[in-house]
Amino acid sequence: MIFGAILAGGVGTRMNISDMPKQFLMLGNKPIIIHTIEKFLLCTRFDKIYIGVHTDWLMYMNDLIEKYNLDKAKLVCVHGGVDRSGTIFNIIKQIKKEYGGNDDDIVVTHDAVRPFVTSRIIEENIDAALKFGACDTVIKSTDTIVMSKDEKTITEIPNRRFMYQGQTPQSFKISLLFDLYNDLNNEEKSVLTDACKICVVRHFPVHLVLGEVANIKITTVTDYKIAMAMVGGTKFD
Ligand code: CTP
Repeated sequence: MIFGAILAGGVGTRMNISDMPKQFLMLGNKPIIIHTIEKFLLCTRFDKIYIGVHTDWLMYMNDLIEKYNLDKAKLVCVHGGVDRSGTIFNIIKQIKKEYGGNDDDIVVTHDAVRPFVTSRIIEENIDAALKFGACDTVIKSTDTIVMSKDEKTITEIPNRRFMYQGQTPQSFKISLLFDLYNDLNNEEKSVLTDACKICVVRHFPVHLVLGEVANIKITTVTDYKIAMAMVGGTKFD
């Protein structure tokens, strides 16, 4: 089976313009998260799409699903976790509970705050996860990446040719991700907040899917303003 996992368990502390988590802010004529869910609903290959939501906002999320007349039969809301990977594993546990653990089941995990994901990116994630077991969406880095281990001086400037910026979706065979995660010790679990990194540290190859520059993550007010401009909005509040 093929599952979507939209990660909306965060509260958006870096956005800092509203009491509302950023995924619920309006972008054009609907909230950011509704744009994202609609992109996933366009893909008919999903059996179910899970949405991991901060516990305080679960009821609000269900109300939005009603309000925007989304396909309720396809959507399942679950509690978010304490961090992003906690939200992913809450969703995976729920999938295992409802559908059991079939070796070939895959999950396409995606940040709720990346509303400009495209159907092409989602489809290529599904294909790559089915074929290779794990994939990450990336774009080539156009800026030079500078590493500073002491946060004062440059330690290293890696060759830009090999540098990419990570986006989402990140997609996996569910059984693989579950086994790799269960193999981590508690310290590793607390520092490995990126699901692809869990694969990388356990030497499981993660295939690259080409993303889009426009597939931005709305993290700060500046990102929000850019997203508003991208949907042709002029109003900022
Ligand atoms: N996320 C999640 N569960 C968490 C934390 C984050 O599902 N416990 C989700 C966010 O809702 C967001 C995505 O992960 O869609 C990317 O994270 P980020 O941009 O860091 O979101 P926030 O944690 O909400 O933002 P901040 O770090 O500024 O508080």
